[in-house]
Amino acid sequence: ADGEGSGLRTPIVAVLGHVDHGKTSLLDKIRGSAVIEGEAGAITQHIGATAVPLDVISELAGSLIDPSDFDLPGLLFIDTPGHHSFSTLRARGGALADIAVLVVDVNDGFQPQTLEALDILKRTQTPFVVAANKIDTTPGWNPQEDAPTLRTIDAQSDRAENTLNQRLYEIIGELSENGFSADMYWRVQDFRGNIGVVPVSALTGEGVPDLLTVLMGLSQRYMKEDMEVNLSGPGAGTVLEVKEERGFGTTLDVVLYDGVVRTDDTIVVGGKNEPIVTEVRALLQPRPLAEIRTEKRFEQVEEVTAAAGVKIAAPDLDDAIAGAPVRVARGRPVEEVVAAVEAELAEIEVDTAENGIVVKADTLGSLEAIANALEEAEVPIVRAEVGDVAPRDVAVASTADDPKHEVILAFNVDVLPDAEQQARERDIRVFEDDVIYQLVDEYEEFVAEIER
Ligand code: GTP
Ligand code: MG
Repeated sequence: ADGEGSGLRTPIVAVLGHVDHGKTSLLDKIRGSAVIEGEAGAITQHIGATAVPLDVISELAGSLIDPSDFDLPGLLFIDTPGHHSFSTLRARGGALADIAVLVVDVNDGFQPQTLEALDILKRTQTPFVVAANKIDTTPGWNPQEDAPTLRTIDAQSDRAENTLNQRLYEIIGELSENGFSADMYWRVQDFRGNIGVVPVSALTGEGVPDLLTVLMGLSQRYMKEDMEVNLSGPGAGTVLEVKEERGFGTTLDVVLYDGVVRTDDTIVVGGKNEPIVTEVRALLQPRPLAEIRTEKRFEQVEEVTAAAGVKIAAPDLDDAIAGAPVRVARGRPVEEVVAAVEAELAEIEVDTAENGIVVKADTLGSLEAIANALEEAEVPIVRAEVGDVAPRDVAVASTADDPKHEVILAFNVDVLPDAEQQARERDIRVFEDDVIYQLVDEYEEFVAEIER
């Protein structure tokens, strides 16, 4: 992806699912297998992401993939901790992820964060497959290290196979209850109309070849047109996180989905009050695993091409917000880029009312998702912001003239100690949760209690 002009970028794959269902293990397995195959150098660790090139995918998928069928360069996997709202992140009005893997533990089935991820995938119309993980925990399982699904199923006793099938059909049933027609992936013809379920084990690697094959096929068939971008054009991305980094001050963890960003580029970033215009001081990537212990954690690079995860160090980033757009201004008047960022932010802006509750969330996307859920529940919002719950939020909630509105909903953010104390003193209720609909449920229960 170093060519001039147009080319195919790597599709961005979000790995989503309930806490502990095996998202990180699945990516670790893909990385680990590549190390064993001697392909470790080819897999690169990005900020918040792992890039797996086509030749590695093809190596791991073995006979399931013919690399000559593909011209996409590989897949960029974004791992999301169960409590994080990556699934809500946006890029130019759409979802940041091109496709997604929804990881479901076959023993545990659908859980609150599985449902939440499904809701968001539905709303953003993101194509996805389900990885039915931990198949190795089926009683009587006879593990076949790294084997394709059908081969490992062939090696199981009837009893183990039946137990697994029962669990898989429960998952298919849950999907259908939630409005998705689904089947085992090998029976799915049209992956846009039907969700493919891929039985896998992140522990033994069983089914991982199939998962990679399905993801590659899905991207190649349905995403290719969207992947045709100007790879050397000005970069565009989304802020994953705003982080303090020793020696660099406030930095941005960014997923770049378009173009290229270089050191010294002028960038425009969505900020708390207005877009921030600044200059890139350094672009940082994690060091290869072997070097992390001895050296500094990051190495500086001169430029990064989409799709990629990168840490951007620049002055004046304190007011940047997670979920906000980042644009490189190269070759265009800065005002034009500022206007574009403003327009994008305006699209995400939450409508507030004269009276209502206070909502705080970790990213713009999650704020938007909560606002949607509250709107459906006909709950008015007086103030909606990205960031921790601060004394100012308590002050706003205290001005409510309806006890129903003396409330702060906090999604995936901290309550600052001052704010906590003031909330206690002023009798402001603060609800914290990391599942959107649970947060809304908790609030509705509270209202029901008041009205009783
Ligand atoms: P969060 O990041 O906390 O949301 O969790 P996660 O989804 O990344 O789960 P993680 O990969 O950390 O796995 C959770 C636990 O499940 C760990 O103890 C894993 O070893 C275990 N685990 C994950 N995949 C498998 C699997 O396929 N088989 C078995 N037996 N255990 C697994
Ligand atoms: Mg994890």
